Formats: sequence, C-alpha cells, structure tokens
Amino acid sequence: MSLYIGIDLGTSAVKLLLMDAQGKIHKIVSKEYPLHFPHPGWSEQEPADWWNGVKEGLKELTADCEKSQIAGISFGGQMHGLVALDASDEVIRPAILWNDGRTQKQTDYLNEVVGREKLSACTANIAFAGFTAPKLLWMKEEEPENFARIRKIMLPKDYIAFKLSGVHCTDYSDASGMLLLDVEHKCWSREMIEICGLTEDVMPKLFESYETVGTILPELADEFGFSKDVKIVAGAGDNAAAAVGTGTVGDGRCNISLGTSGTIFISSKSFGVDEHNALHSFDHADGNYHLMGCMLSAASCNKWWMDEIIGTKDYGAEQAQIEKLGENHVFFLPYLMGERSPHNNPNARGTFIGMTMDTTRADMTQAVLEGVAFAIRDSFEVAKSLGIQIDRTKICGGGAKSPLWKKIIANVLGLKVDMIESEEGPGYGGAMLAAVACGEFASVEEAAEKLVKVVDTIEPDPALVEKYNERYAKFAKIYPTVKCLFDEVTI
Ligand code: XUL
Repeated sequence: MSLYIGIDLGTSAVKLLLMDAQGKIHKIVSKEYPLHFPHPGWSEQEPADWWNGVKEGLKELTADCEKSQIAGISFGGQMHGLVALDASDEVIRPAILWNDGRTQKQTDYLNEVVGREKLSACTANIAFAGFTAPKLLWMKEEEPENFARIRKIMLPKDYIAFKLSGVHCTDYSDASGMLLLDVEHKCWSREMIEICGLTEDVMPKLFESYETVGTILPELADEFGFSKDVKIVAGAGDNAAAAVGTGTVGDGRCNISLGTSGTIFISSKSFGVDEHNALHSFDHADGNYHLMGCMLSAASCNKWWMDEIIGTKDYGAEQAQIEKLGENHVFFLPYLMGERSPHNNPNARGTFIGMTMDTTRADMTQAVLEGVAFAIRDSFEVAKSLGIQIDRTKICGGGAKSPLWKKIIANVLGLKVDMIESEEGPGYGGAMLAAVACGEFASVEEAAEKLVKVVDTIEPDPALVEKYNERYAKFAKIYPTVKCLFDEVTI
C-alpha cells in the first residue's frame, strides 16, 4: 500500500506525518526551530533551519517504514512569509514572517496611496502588515542591496518544495496571501508585481494544491532511501491544508484553527469579497475559494500566559481551576503581536481589564482563553453580516487539545463544534493532497469524504451562549475605546 507524507511547516516547529491510503496515521515527528524577534514586533526565521528540520524529520519519520512505498509528499505551510532567492538560488536574508509588524508604512502606502479599491480589484484583498507585498516594499526601501539581488520569491513551504524538487513553485491558496495574485482568476497580478518593483519572472510557477510540481531530486532520493519517483505535490497554505485535513471543503463549511495564530475559515464554491475586505478572500486547496479571518496570537496567548507569566507547563491543571464559564469579570485583548482580522493594527497590544482584589489566577487564565474566542467571534460576526449562515464548525491546532477551550469556543460563537479523529490539520491535509495527486482519490472532496470522520460534537448550551453574548458585547467595546492609546504605548 502506498504511503504519503504531509509536512506542516509551522512557526514553532515542522511536523511531519506519515499516512497510508486509508488515511491511517502511522507516525508523527516534530522538529522545533528558533523564531527570531530582532526588534519588537519583527518576526523572522532562517529557511536553512526549516530545511534542516525537514531533512532530519523525514529520516526519523521513515526510519521504520517500507521506504519504497512512499509515493508522494506535500505541505501545509505558514503563510505570507517572504523567502527571497538570488541568482544562485541562495536565500538573500532571513524570511520575514506572517506575524511580523514592521511594514505599517508600506501597508498604509498600499491601502491609502495605491488605494484599497485598486488592491481589491487586482487581488480581492487589501494590504495587511503580514502579507508579502508590503514586505517587498519594505525590503526595497530599507535593504536596497538585498532587494536588487532578488531573482525568485516564494513562500515558506515552497522553499521546502524547491529544495526537494528543484522547482520554483507555489499554489493558489498560499499565493492568495501575497497580495500579488488575482485570486478570482488565478493568475499573477502584473500590476501588483510592478507596484512592488519586480517583474513576473521572479514569481514562482502556480499550481493547484493537489498538483504534482516534480519528482524528488535523485540525490535526495538516495540520501533518504526513497524511490526516485516520489512526487512532490504543491500543497497549500496551512489554513487551507488544515481545512482539507478537517474536511472543510466544498461549500459553506467552517474550520477554526487554534494554533500560534487563530483562524476562522469558511469554504465556498463561489468567489466572493466583503465590501470592507475585513475577511481575506483566498483560493482554496480543493480548487474553490474561501473567506478567512486571522488573529495573530491564539494558542500562543495561552502559551505566553502559562510558560512566561505564571510559569507552568501543566496547562490542564490550570484549566481545571476554572469553574464558572460566562461569569468572569476580567477581559483580555489577545493582541500580543498586534492584530490582523478585523482590526488591521500592528500597534494593538495585549490588555487585561476588569481585575479586582478578589481576581484569581484562574480568572486570568479563563480571560485569556475567552479573549481568544471573542477575537475569533469578531471575524465570525463579519461573516454573518455577509449573510453567511454557519451552525457548526470543525476545530484543529494545539489549542483544540483542550476540552475546556473547545467548550468556550462552542458557546462564545454559538456553534456546534465537531471533533474529528485526527486534529493534525495541516499535516493531515498535506498528506491527503499528496494522495490526491498520486491518484488515490479523484478529488480533494472525495478524499475528505472518505478519510475525515467526526467522532464527537460539542453542542452549545443556550444559557451559556446568552451569558457569552452579553460578555461579547462588552468585549467588543474595549478595543475601540483603548485603540488610541496603543500608538502611544507601542515601542
Ligand atoms: C493566515 C496567517 C496565519 C499563518 C500561520 O493568514 O497569517 O494563520 O498562516 O502559520
């Protein structure tokens, strides 16, 4: 039986997953790498660290399996990061990541001077600090020597596909987040590429997520002990790959990801843009489209609160102290890296408000979990205002391992939360895309139908939903009230 590898190139680690044609996961391996914050609000990684992690991970993942059975490798990758290569295909500078906030000036230029209408007409989106186009403008202004050396640009997972296959490629879902793709017509926007001071020859070749870009380089096949026919398949941005992995394909399905970032992802068979571009309008890995809201710090807020502030690794024990859902008097704005959807403000900052002398550590922990859920609801409210009707969602990501957090999400959003057998969103989705490319399934939708199984559902409790509606109304007033202070306190 053929085996497929899904590589989830995340922000804190790369996770590799080995799946068979029946969707059974044989092994998962994870390799961490550093994340650099050279200035407050900046966020960078070394593509060489990703590649080393992938190489080590591939060897460990396949150490005990019949290597000749490996048929395809594909990806889910952190989106928007700028990887720039020179004429010798060497990386020019560290990758500037999706959660990097250095490009406020360039983002404002794109939105105000080039103009939101034009950006939306060319790409279906406006500029956000994390997107790739503002990073290019930043590099052009701040590092002109580096910018002049650019011969190819690509996104993080595409660098790994390139190292494995030698092909400069990307896929439509991930390319959507560059602000250089005409999302509706699935081609590069010449106008946007020109605005960024580049020409189309620097762009990688576009593929559907389930298309093969090439075969593994022979020297790597030898090094790993794989067949030389292993297909390298384009893959998707991590959110689209997670959506595939949770069966969020076709029309009107929803997935929430509680990873370093937090996203709400709504699949659609038709192209659509909201009037204010508050949600991203991107291509999906199933060949269709999706809308997405992305908050920059989700499970990372809880990790920060647990690891850095209260100093514990026992997240379960802390959450066990939380007894009264819906009745907390503390609120938390989860903007530790600024915020993308829907505020588009890199200067926003994490904020606790409402403490009294009887506030407990558990109240603060609860406020962190609830604050993330409220911030996801901000994007969900935008989706509802567009007439999108959703009554259930899938969930994945590290935060989804917490039963309490899932219950909070279900009640803050008033959604049924379907739990699936595997919460390995992007890695599983990546392996499924590889299986589709190798002919195991006729389409991504067919793969999702056959492989993704719901094992349990959390139903929202009407009384708790009511309490959370009241609390959300208060939460929604805090950001607009403190917003003007963020510019002053931000370093
Ligand atoms: C999506 C986004 C994040 C990253 C995280 O727009 O920026 O979800 O993809 O890896």
